[in-house]
Amino acid sequence: MSNATPSSATMSGPLLRVADIHTYYGDSYVLQGVSLTLQKGQIAAILGRNGMGKTTLIRSVAGLTPPRAGEITYRDMSLRGKPPYVIAQAGISIVPQGRRIFRSLSVRENLLLPTSVLARSSQARNGGEPGQRWDFDEVLKEFPQLAERVNHSGGSLSGGEQQMLAIGRALMANPKLILMDEPSEGLSPRLVLRVQEIMRRLRARGHAILLVEQNLELALSVADEVYVLSAGQFVFQGTPADLANATQVLDQHLGVSGARMV
Ligand SMILES: Nc1ncnc2c1ncn2[C@@H]1O[C@H](COP(=O)(O)OP(=O)(O)OP(=O)(O)O)[C@@H](O)[C@H]1O
Ligand SMILES: [Mg+2]
Repeated sequence: MSNATPSSATMSGPLLRVADIHTYYGDSYVLQGVSLTLQKGQIAAILGRNGMGKTTLIRSVAGLTPPRAGEITYRDMSLRGKPPYVIAQAGISIVPQGRRIFRSLSVRENLLLPTSVLARSSQARNGGEPGQRWDFDEVLKEFPQLAERVNHSGGSLSGGEQQMLAIGRALMANPKLILMDEPSEGLSPRLVLRVQEIMRRLRARGHAILLVEQNLELALSVADEVYVLSAGQFVFQGTPADLANATQVLDQHLGVSGARMV
């Protein structure tokens, strides 16, 4: 598969292009030729059962488990060989599965940590559009529950608050692209709606989101494009409406009967 030439002065192609990547853990061959494109300000949802390779795809993009073959380009820049901190500085933030906040650090410290790590990055300073930048105050304005608990330890927060903290922490780096790995996992239906609202607000502010979800309803309600991953390969790509009608994919790869979709 051909790729855009890296490092052109103006961005011409999609924000993110994943082209035929193959990712391993040692001898374990997980992603077996995965390709996708994501435009600026769009949400792509990756669906699939447990162990199909969803987190591995996120880790591949973030540089945590780089693919052994294939190409990932972000804003026309090849991510090949780039360490995770360089990828983060370029404008890609991760909201990891299971939140991974620092339980013994306060909400304030959790939020300020990425800023100090990325302090020298021009992208971190300039990554957002004018008037659209995130900083500590802006994040607290977006998540009032966190504002009430800035001095509480991360570990003392509820699951929903921890998720807001993980999202707020990602925003502090002013990403163009946010990688979200199962943000609704373990949350009540009310909080799943809150996550849905947050994703829509982020898209409206120009952020693109690569969303991994097992909550089909959530994914279909926010995504512009949907992919279904099965045993390290995409078995479906289309719009949420296309997937809602793809009864065989729903049944075979997501364990949902068509009747339940109506
Ligand atoms: N660090 C690792 N070392 C070896 N194998 C791993 C590692 N992490 C994941 N795997 C394996 O890779 C495969 C894909 O895992 P991955 O975490 O990407 O799946 P997933 O789709 O995110 O699953 P889940 O829905 O449970 O989060 C699984 O078979 C898993 O056991
Ligand atoms: Mg996972």
